[in-house]
Amino acid sequence: MSTHATIKRVTVPEIRARKGGEPIVSLTSYQTYSARIADPFCDFLLVGDSVAMVAYGLQSTLAVSLDMMIMHGKAVMRGAERAMVVVDLPFGSYEESPAQAFRSASRVISETGCSAVKLEGGVRMAETVRFLTERGIPVMGHVGLTPQAVNIFGGFKTQGRDPGDWQQIEADATAIEAAGAFAIVVEGVVEPLAAKITKSTKVPVIGIGASNQCDGQILVMEDMLGFNDCAPKFVRRYAALGRAMTDAISSFAEDVKSRSFPSEKEIYKG
Ligand code: KIV
Repeated sequence: MSTHATIKRVTVPEIRARKGGEPIVSLTSYQTYSARIADPFCDFLLVGDSVAMVAYGLQSTLAVSLDMMIMHGKAVMRGAERAMVVVDLPFGSYEESPAQAFRSASRVISETGCSAVKLEGGVRMAETVRFLTERGIPVMGHVGLTPQAVNIFGGFKTQGRDPGDWQQIEADATAIEAAGAFAIVVEGVVEPLAAKITKSTKVPVIGIGASNQCDGQILVMEDMLGFNDCAPKFVRRYAALGRAMTDAISSFAEDVKSRSFPSEKEIYKG
């Protein structure tokens, strides 16, 4: 008999059922150790294609490959026992056709063991969302500021400042909800629009740089932990890990240079 207590992982229907209920807590995660730390506190962890900027120092998410997402997805699955894990479909792996999206998404699900994929786009991706969900692949949508379209937007700009744009963004959310998305990330839109979308949809809306009226919130983990100075303005920093690492590494360097670094003999002298 196994001596391990079985921890039940949060499921897609459980997330869907949280509409209008207890707010959903989520963070991005790309690696095992941080996934393990975040796991008890998060309802889901997103293996976001923001890994491009955070782990690889790239300027946008556009250069991430499906293989990279699968590697990071596997790493997060090794760390997370309780939180549901969602993996982003990267740019170029799903937009061409529903069949291309199915090939990519089925690889992500079967090779990582994650519960769902996320893809960007509204009305134009509705057919694909329907195709995937009808074939057993849960889809989280992503509308508003969709970073894979950064070149169309001309930068990472808040959407919906012009009320004339609201109708399109609302239609995007409605279309993917109708197509079967179980939750929708709304990123970088003005607050009243995010609140309006949250009210008008029946699936949970997860905000990032949107509104505290959303059904849950997601942040890039390294941004909220204060790893660097270039996080978006809306991010509240809950720690200063960049500063803590600088202090620790400089103390280590001083120890090594002053030969006060403990020798192997001292460590193992017992
Ligand atoms: O890739 C990512 O980190 C995301 C979040 C911003 C939602 O998609």
